[in-house]
Amino acid sequence: MDRSEAGKRILHLRAVLAENSRRYYVDNAPVISDYEFDTLMKELTDLEDMYPEFITPDSPSRRPGSDLEAPVGQNAERLAGKEFKQYPHRYPMLSLGNTYSISEVEEFAERAVKTVPEGFTYSCELKFDGTAICLTYKDGVLFRALTRGDGVVGDDVTANALRISNIPRVLKGSGYPAEFEIRGEVLMPFASFEALNAAREDIGEQPFANPRNAASGSLKLLDPEEVGRRGLICTLYHIPGGLEGVSTHSDALDAAASWGLPVSDKRRICKDIAEIEEYISYWDTHRKGLPYATDGIVIKINESLYQQRLGYTAKFPRWAVAYKFKAERALTTLESIDYQVGRTGAVTPVANLSPVLLAGTVVKRATLNNEDFMRMLDIRTGDWVYIEKGGEIIPKITGVELSRRPAGAAVPAFPEVCPDCGTPLVKPEGEARWFCPNQDGCPTQTKGRLIHFMSRKAMNVIAGDATVEQLYNLGLVRTPADLYSLGMQQLLMLDGWKEKSARRFLDSLRGSLSVPFERVLFALGIRYVGETTAKEIARHFGDIDSVASATREALLEVPDVGDVIADSVVAFFAQPAHIAEIVRLKDAGLQLGAQAPREPSSEALQGLTIVISGNFSVSRDRMKELIEMNGGKNSSSVSSHTSFLLAGSKPGPEKIRKAGELGVRVIGEEEFMSMIPSPAPSGEVRGLFDGEEAEPTLF
Ligand code: IVH
Repeated sequence: MDRSEAGKRILHLRAVLAENSRRYYVDNAPVISDYEFDTLMKELTDLEDMYPEFITPDSPSRRPGSDLEAPVGQNAERLAGKEFKQYPHRYPMLSLGNTYSISEVEEFAERAVKTVPEGFTYSCELKFDGTAICLTYKDGVLFRALTRGDGVVGDDVTANALRISNIPRVLKGSGYPAEFEIRGEVLMPFASFEALNAAREDIGEQPFANPRNAASGSLKLLDPEEVGRRGLICTLYHIPGGLEGVSTHSDALDAAASWGLPVSDKRRICKDIAEIEEYISYWDTHRKGLPYATDGIVIKINESLYQQRLGYTAKFPRWAVAYKFKAERALTTLESIDYQVGRTGAVTPVANLSPVLLAGTVVKRATLNNEDFMRMLDIRTGDWVYIEKGGEIIPKITGVELSRRPAGAAVPAFPEVCPDCGTPLVKPEGEARWFCPNQDGCPTQTKGRLIHFMSRKAMNVIAGDATVEQLYNLGLVRTPADLYSLGMQQLLMLDGWKEKSARRFLDSLRGSLSVPFERVLFALGIRYVGETTAKEIARHFGDIDSVASATREALLEVPDVGDVIADSVVAFFAQPAHIAEIVRLKDAGLQLGAQAPREPSSEALQGLTIVISGNFSVSRDRMKELIEMNGGKNSSSVSSHTSFLLAGSKPGPEKIRKAGELGVRVIGEEEFMSMIPSPAPSGEVRGLFDGEEAEPTLF
């Protein structure tokens, strides 16, 4: 490559890297893998090293990425100007030089040996894959929490940090400096990530690509209560400036741990490259058993004095390097693409692949997200494609091996009409996805809504997708209200159904008549109205008629409800078909809040804040309900405000530890039950099912 070609390539790489950096840090929705990003960055730095005359201070190779810019169309409140306050970092928040090869780790060690006297040690640590945070403690109390921002200025997320269960507001023990900073990573454990994505899909929202994006999106939420519900954790790994009188990084972290700060116990002090390699290969395997994502290991010179001597480049410390694990990747062929319609009408392209083994499971299908993503990959049917497990969970296509493209491979045409009902697709403003607008006539959307209506967290009617398919195909059911007109005769028409299965189904439908209003509201499947929002709206308005006639302004008064949700609720009830459906559901006897909202049945727990953990003889949701019915408040994390921790079998060890530390009392199920009046058995419900004679026929 000559000088002028290099200049052009540098400009191109900078533009591509800047765009992908924005997608990663700001939108929390990366479209290329870390490995691809790092490879492009390496090409840029190599070219800049070769042609230093092209170096500019604003090149992405000289600056860490920034999470400061407001995401486009992602958060209406943020656009309305309610952003976070910003503060400068006391020490710039830099990134780490990274490598994917052991030989470069060796080079790092050799460079260090040349600069500092022999006999130093390395602190080897996991590289946690979350979002960076910087905590400042003053006189032992959390004073401020900042995101990385652009490395110089960060967003003040203190209120959110205080909702992260293992970040202490107050330090314990003694000997901490009057003021100090400690940095680390906020992570979303896999379990919280899966629960969050399931809930998002329930309300038709795009799931997060991986736990890292979910963590960084959650840390930047404007509602600290919601942050508390996201199940984030924090791990701390760096005290910029060190601690006075403490000569190594590892001793400084041990001291931090003794003050109650969350520091990883997976650190190891290594004395040479052989020990470093041992640590790397151990964790390359064992990290798969960790409950959170890691993407490599970090090797740091442990002695503070030597760290100072080695210093920093504009972007990285010279005393540390990250060795990144390659995401497990497989190469296979793209056989065809299906276009799936969800219950909200969103059309998602899904790749059918030649089956291939990846990270322990056989992968046959992978998501292609949306049309823009397909175009960005320039994917063709018959292509050889790379697949990775995003955050080790959801398989996705990360690239195309162009050198193996078969001649004449066809560019797939994204459908212009719904693959199910043939209605022309639409792309609403600000959406990356195409939608089928035929909400009421599109079979897949109709079946999807029925499946959602009957799901466990909604009406909890025992029925699989196959039952819905049959009920739909026989023309027995189109809307939820149709379910309540079903009788024995119709159900016996279903393939393989006998009286016993039909009765069980009818019993389950009858049971759903006592499902409280808030869950019925969730079951209706109003776009963006998830479980929590439905609860808030139900509590605020008390009954369905008030919700249906609420104005946008009235809805905005409900906690958790912003512009997007308010508009969606208003639009839902503006449709006469939906009002007619509500009337039928009322007639069927569903709880639509016509009676006064449920009052606490006693005040036995008035003023008490209770955290529950573990398993009980009844479901955890039932336990929470009992707490609320008796005037108590549920909270998800143990803090100094917790009245007691209600522990069942197998309680979370972290909660127990925290309770012990803060002197919070731990009680068992039996003691709890003795504190409240015995719960009434669930009330009998009148219904169509009481006698066979009441059974209506559809034909
Ligand atoms: S030390 C001066 N230690 O990875 C930089 N960073 O890709 C000091 N990270 O910016 C950072 N685990 O956000 C350090 N054990 C660890 C880490 C770690 C994850 C993050 C951190 C850093 C990024 C670089």
